[in-house]
Amino acid sequence: MSPFLLTRTLPEDATEAALRADVQRGLTGTPKTLPPKWFYDAHGSELFERITELPEYYPTRAEREILLARSTAIAAATGARTLVELGSGSSEKTRHLIDAMTGLHTYVPVDVSESALTQAGQALIAERPALSVHALIADFTADLELPDTPGPRLVAFLGGTIGNLLPAERAEFLASLRALLAPGDALLLGTDLVKDERVLVRAYDDAAGVTAAFDKNVLTVVNRELGADFDPDAFDHVALWDAGNEWIEMRLRSLADQTVKVPSLDLAVHFAAGEEMRTEVSAKFRKEGVRAELAAAGLDLSHWWTDDEGRFALSLSTAR
Ligand code: SAH
Ligand code: TRP
Repeated sequence: MSPFLLTRTLPEDATEAALRADVQRGLTGTPKTLPPKWFYDAHGSELFERITELPEYYPTRAEREILLARSTAIAAATGARTLVELGSGSSEKTRHLIDAMTGLHTYVPVDVSESALTQAGQALIAERPALSVHALIADFTADLELPDTPGPRLVAFLGGTIGNLLPAERAEFLASLRALLAPGDALLLGTDLVKDERVLVRAYDDAAGVTAAFDKNVLTVVNRELGADFDPDAFDHVALWDAGNEWIEMRLRSLADQTVKVPSLDLAVHFAAGEEMRTEVSAKFRKEGVRAELAAAGLDLSHWWTDDEGRFALSLSTAR
């Protein structure tokens, strides 16, 4: 029997308190926003898995291609005994890396989605009986504490999820991450790259409407958790390319003049017809920008790999 440990560092009432604070701030600000980590309840995690299989959503396939080609090199360059993965979701692509890491002792998937962690963890221990899996329900943007496992450590942060943080949040996140590492530990970072606007917009506004359903799921989460009365059908999903910031911005556009009540915050929020609320950004990167952001946090870029079409990059950097 291989060990599977699930630790919650996010108490359930802390999640609720954070959601309340985020929704209060986001719905009373101008423009209105809702923060992205609340997309991922069990249904949201399922919808995200469907996004990864869409013909328009190339990042998952591009990143898998790089992992397949480079996992052996990554394992050799890091010699890691512990693999920590932030925002691990289904851990599906990570299997290639795990299989290449012959000296791997413990895998530590970290996610806010308990359902994703449980499913991924159970599947992994069934397939890899010698691996110890210590799953953490935690927010990687809050104070992350890693279990005491053997070094060196490799932290993987895949899927382009770092692009869902705003630039200032990224700087803070990378600095706190560096503080968790010992010199010589490594970061494997997946970043989607700047490319043709039409390709980018399609990846975030697919023909089958799965991304639209995913975007609107955040309204369902707020309804369930805070008793709000959002009507998801009264909003349209919008994805647009912000060329100045080089990010895709996801928005929900109110189709009518409407007032939404959030009883547990004692809030009534007015939406004008056509008013747009930002739900997510997904930043796209260039090599020199990634290098600079890593360096500012004390991480030195050593490898940069892209898929054949140059759409997505995996970078390896080492803690100074
Ligand atoms: N790594 C997977 C999943 C990416 S989707 C892939 O590449 O396909 C982003 C994942 O990060 C989701 O599983 C979501 O639940 C998780 N997540 C988002 N914000 C988070 C946060 N602040 N802390 C921890 N996990 C988070
Ligand atoms: N990390 C993913 C990305 O930026 C998350 C994502 C994919 C996403 N599609 C989305 C987030 C649609 C919000 C809406 O590519």
